[in-house]
Amino acid sequence: MCGIIGYIGPRNATSIILNGLRRLEYRGYDSAGIAVLGARGIHVERAVGKLSNLELRMQNSESARPPLSILNSQFPIPNSPGFSIGIGHTRWATHGGVTENNAHPHLNEAGTIAVIQNGIIENFIELKHELQAEGARFRSETDTEVIPHLVDLYMRSGMSFTRAAFAAIGRLQGSNAVVLMCSQEPDKLIAARLGNAGGIVIGIGPGEKFVASDAPGIVEHTRTVIFLDDGEAAIVQADHLEVRRLNGAPVEKSPHVIAWDPVSAEKGEYRHFMQKEIFEQARAVTDTLRGRVNFETGEVTLENLELRVENGESSFLNSQFSILNFPKRIHTVACGTSKHAGLIGKFLIERIARVPVEVDYGSEYRYRDPLIEAGMVVLGITQSGETADTLAAMSTGRERGAGVWTIVNAIGSQAERMANGVIHMRAGPEIGVCSTKTFVTSIVDQYLLACALAQHAPQASDASGEAQPAASYALARELAHLPGLISQLLAPDPIYEELANRFHDRRHFLFLGRGMNYPIALEGALKLKEISYIHAEGYPAGEMKHGPIALIDETMPVVCVAVKDSVYDKMISQIEQVKARSGIVIAIATEGDDFIQRKADYVITVPPAPELLTPVLTAIPMQRLAYETAVRLGCDVDQPRNLAKSVTVE
Ligand code: F6R
Repeated sequence: MCGIIGYIGPRNATSIILNGLRRLEYRGYDSAGIAVLGARGIHVERAVGKLSNLELRMQNSESARPPLSILNSQFPIPNSPGFSIGIGHTRWATHGGVTENNAHPHLNEAGTIAVIQNGIIENFIELKHELQAEGARFRSETDTEVIPHLVDLYMRSGMSFTRAAFAAIGRLQGSNAVVLMCSQEPDKLIAARLGNAGGIVIGIGPGEKFVASDAPGIVEHTRTVIFLDDGEAAIVQADHLEVRRLNGAPVEKSPHVIAWDPVSAEKGEYRHFMQKEIFEQARAVTDTLRGRVNFETGEVTLENLELRVENGESSFLNSQFSILNFPKRIHTVACGTSKHAGLIGKFLIERIARVPVEVDYGSEYRYRDPLIEAGMVVLGITQSGETADTLAAMSTGRERGAGVWTIVNAIGSQAERMANGVIHMRAGPEIGVCSTKTFVTSIVDQYLLACALAQHAPQASDASGEAQPAASYALARELAHLPGLISQLLAPDPIYEELANRFHDRRHFLFLGRGMNYPIALEGALKLKEISYIHAEGYPAGEMKHGPIALIDETMPVVCVAVKDSVYDKMISQIEQVKARSGIVIAIATEGDDFIQRKADYVITVPPAPELLTPVLTAIPMQRLAYETAVRLGCDVDQPRNLAKSVTVE
């Protein structure tokens, strides 16, 4: 999770930025950098590894080069005497390796514009080619570097820094948070948010301003903040703050006052942790993808999936990270939401890598005397890494000679220690008891695993035409669009409140889906029941006629996942059957599907996407519907009754 800190005001920007970055350190990063304005223009320092490396670099550079002494004192900025301005960043690699050159901030060639960014610029290849044709020379492999070159190009055509920054940000596709500074207009920072891959919070102090990706980075200096929404940019000056839409239209923002305690600071602009965690899913997925996919070639690197190399039966990789033993079969073991993710993973791994997958409850697996043999993998999916039933199922696999892998969020957890292959979800801390972002990131992890297996399949399975290496490269490239698609689903939408108002008093809900979206029906039902205490059942839609159809009458809301996929027509006929019995249909459908608008009573739309990615998208309306309903009922959303975040007993 990259961290962003910016400062403008009378205090020492360097120490405020370093301190803020340190407060965001727990989110993880692989390199760091800072840009501050000194008497000789923008001064940048970057270093791979921990912030202490950056500090060391700054100390060394200070003794070698006089301008750095300015960093530790107030220094004059033209037109703004006595002010200090700078930006800093902790990077977690997406485009390009972990190198000093790839660390942020990035500069234009003249070194007059510095930029830090969180997210994925989906159209960076087109922009890079365009800029190269104009003569820009790139010094890093990052997507971020297109921004300072683009601003530079616009400024050379006569635009002011502010106008050029707005124009450049307006050309970025995807979900991004960006902060820029320019030595030619040194009295301001420009900060912008596109989508939800990174937040921007601006702290307001007397005669000074702070910019951060997360409130804990600045809350020690000020509790009065504003949060930028999708499509907004701020012109941040020490004694003035202006927020505009990217088209220039002014926006009125009311400041929030954040409580001083770390919990409230972490919750930021959200009412509950669950709400925050739903809304940070574009960012969580960006982190899940970081460094694991080359978006130009579609290659997924096994190395970065952290499938550890060990000796013995369970070793699937050699030390060059090429596959020694392709898993013959995978048994996925998990509980609750993680099991639903496993059911989606079965579709992904079987479809893309052609490895047979069975999915079982952690609590059932060891009691059914499973058929386990050497050469197969037991894959435990668990956000906490401490779920007793899942751990017991993984132990069963290990005792009987299978390789044991885990997809896990909690670093250092028991699941991780027990497994010889680990793929982290990288969702960041999930505080709400109800799993949301860990569900979505564990699906993405399985998508990556499926592509990695297909791409690294031994020749034999290529030759038999089983795995789909070629298709897997194209499928992996699609992942670059995922944070942007998720962001679209996180836009304000009155439908959720409307549905909560209309149906919060129902005692029962039915959820239906087919194909890859049948586990989403299960998950939708689980979300609703666990936080609102409304009884809900999830079913594969084709099963409805074998029993649940008896429940349908004019009081029964039926949530149907009916996106434009290979089972769309089948879902439409299920919807007809529900309507024929006077049920109330709430459809989750693809944008632009006019037909379903006529069939369903309510429609929530998701953006069009490749079929294998649709469950990541359809999961989000399920979460938002459950959340709004529970809030409407006044339930304790973050700590629902009888539930715990880690279930460490059998
Ligand atoms: C539902 C939920 C639970 C967990 C289950 C497994 O929102 O949170 O159903 O999914 O207890 O937990 P982990 O993933 O920690 O093994």
